[in-house]
Amino acid sequence: MESIEVVRRAVAAARRAGGTIGLVPTMGALHDGHLRLIERCRAESDLVVVSIFVNPTQFGPSEDLERYPRTLAEDCARCDAAGAEVIFAPQVATIYPHGTGSTFVEVPGLSDVLEGASRPGHFRGVATVVLKLFAIVGPDRAYFGQKDYQQQVLIRRMVADLHVPVAITTVPTVREPDGLALSSRNRYLNPAQRRAATVLARALERAGQAVVQGERIGNRVRQILRETIESEPLARLDYAEVADAETLAPLDELGPQRPAVALVAAWVGSTRLIDNRLLG
Ligand code: PAJ
Repeated sequence: MESIEVVRRAVAAARRAGGTIGLVPTMGALHDGHLRLIERCRAESDLVVVSIFVNPTQFGPSEDLERYPRTLAEDCARCDAAGAEVIFAPQVATIYPHGTGSTFVEVPGLSDVLEGASRPGHFRGVATVVLKLFAIVGPDRAYFGQKDYQQQVLIRRMVADLHVPVAITTVPTVREPDGLALSSRNRYLNPAQRRAATVLARALERAGQAVVQGERIGNRVRQILRETIESEPLARLDYAEVADAETLAPLDELGPQRPAVALVAAWVGSTRLIDNRLLG
């Protein structure tokens, strides 16, 4: 459905019946990672709402907005099969009634590091569209993937700061058997690039092992990440960071009292891939 009113009617009916509402925001081109979110939502909510919206404001001018895969018919079939009752697939003008340059949300500190440093404006677009979806649907719970680690940290901060009454659940990253995190962008990779793309997960795995074996120095863990990714000729490193799992502040040292996360981004050909792993 494309209209806000129709979505709100379905949500209101479920609420009158005493039901809880779960929301899974997506940009479509659904894969098993998205499906895992929908299944979790299905298990925990009476009404499952999936939004499918390729949000223009989170793409930079030289990014892949135009070629981003749009597979609405298949997506709807997958949502139906996974038990989603409401599929909200709005037009851009519905979400941005006064244009994409109107009211926005910014989450300072979290929106300008890592992904935000490489993709200026990206998180302003993400925070803005997610708040709009929360305002349209009014869910009790919303589901995000650990795959986009910084995104879920930022959404949690936004709902806390703005007192949005929604509980955020983060679902572990779904991977291919060789470790590559599922992503709608993996379909851009040719076979050689697809093989090279596993280097992100391999780097994170090596870093994780080093920490398990006692490595505590942030820079040494960063070096493992960097060296592994740089050893793959088809990959070009964007960043390799070790950060506090909640604030994303870079860590000099890892300690038992501070959960840490390793985050990497790399280009494989013209495709930009990200991945992350909790450490320790
Ligand atoms: P999209 O990339 O379609 O992802 C939708 C949700 O699926 C996100 O929460 C993402 O983290 C999760 N996801 C993607 N790949 C995953 C994987 N391999 N394992 C687990 N979860 C995975 O993220 C967005 O869309 C947009 O930024 C959005 C939040 C919809 C706002 O426009």
